[in-house]
Amino acid sequence: MASDIVYLNGDYLPMSEAKVPVLDRGFIFGDGVYEVVPVYGGVPFRMAEHFRRFQHSMDAIRIPNPHTDAEWSKLTHDLVARNGGGDQSVYYQVTRGVAKRDHAFPAGLKPTVFMMTGPLKVPSREQVEQGVSVISMTDFRWFKCDIKSTSLLGNCIAKQAAVEAGAAEVVMFRDGYLTEASSSNVFAVKNGIVLVPPKTHLILPGITYDVVIDLARNAGLPVEVREVHESEVKTADELWITSSTKEVLAATTLDGRPVGNGKPGPAFKRVLQGYQDYKRELQLRAA
Ligand code: PDD
Repeated sequence: MASDIVYLNGDYLPMSEAKVPVLDRGFIFGDGVYEVVPVYGGVPFRMAEHFRRFQHSMDAIRIPNPHTDAEWSKLTHDLVARNGGGDQSVYYQVTRGVAKRDHAFPAGLKPTVFMMTGPLKVPSREQVEQGVSVISMTDFRWFKCDIKSTSLLGNCIAKQAAVEAGAAEVVMFRDGYLTEASSSNVFAVKNGIVLVPPKTHLILPGITYDVVIDLARNAGLPVEVREVHESEVKTADELWITSSTKEVLAATTLDGRPVGNGKPGPAFKRVLQGYQDYKRELQLRAA
């Protein structure tokens, strides 16, 4: 079974044969949006929610959605099957299309549609059991972080700083308040209360964020969705990062200092258990 088949504008083809024109606005301006959906055992995780957010991103930059949810779903299942099924991470990208370089949106373009899949690289057992290191940084990105835009330079610069510091992620603060990490959302636990910033234009509305809030509440943990001050994060008992590919991970050091006692905490363990059970249940339901 092939393992590098991608989808481009109506065709399935090997990655090495997939080409876009140099004047694609995705290449020239980063004028596009994307999604990432994890697939477990052939079953896409919260696909409808991902497609809703995809629609929000397209609406926000006025790109007409080239497909209905049913069509996206069919493309997803077809591409996953062509790449061998099982656990995969599906990447979707829609750009405004190809046009002579001009900052303003040209009328009547045909959006470029690209999809690829890769192995779903979930965290290692060691990362789950020991937690990961994170550093902090000022959030210097723009004011439309709710759009899942392919213009990710700010996030890439932030992530590079983490990598150079030997950390897994960078937790960002704007005007003294927690926003998110370079490619994940961030939760803090203080005195038994789970704290998480609201979904505003300052963060990406994570699909895993929603799952983790539900799981925390189901586990009987009080959750406060509100602005979280930097001092609360820096003195938190637990920190978690969440994303479709990281799932939920404990951050056990922040800027080189232990978070709480430096080990994944009790609230994290309850949410992690809930996450594993929820994934299993979804697969059983789909089987
Ligand atoms: N990133 N915040 C940012 C800036 C992100 O890029 C992501 C996801 C998240 C978490 O969203 P979700 O739970 O829906 O994955 C939060 C993806 C995985 C990526 O860019 O590859």
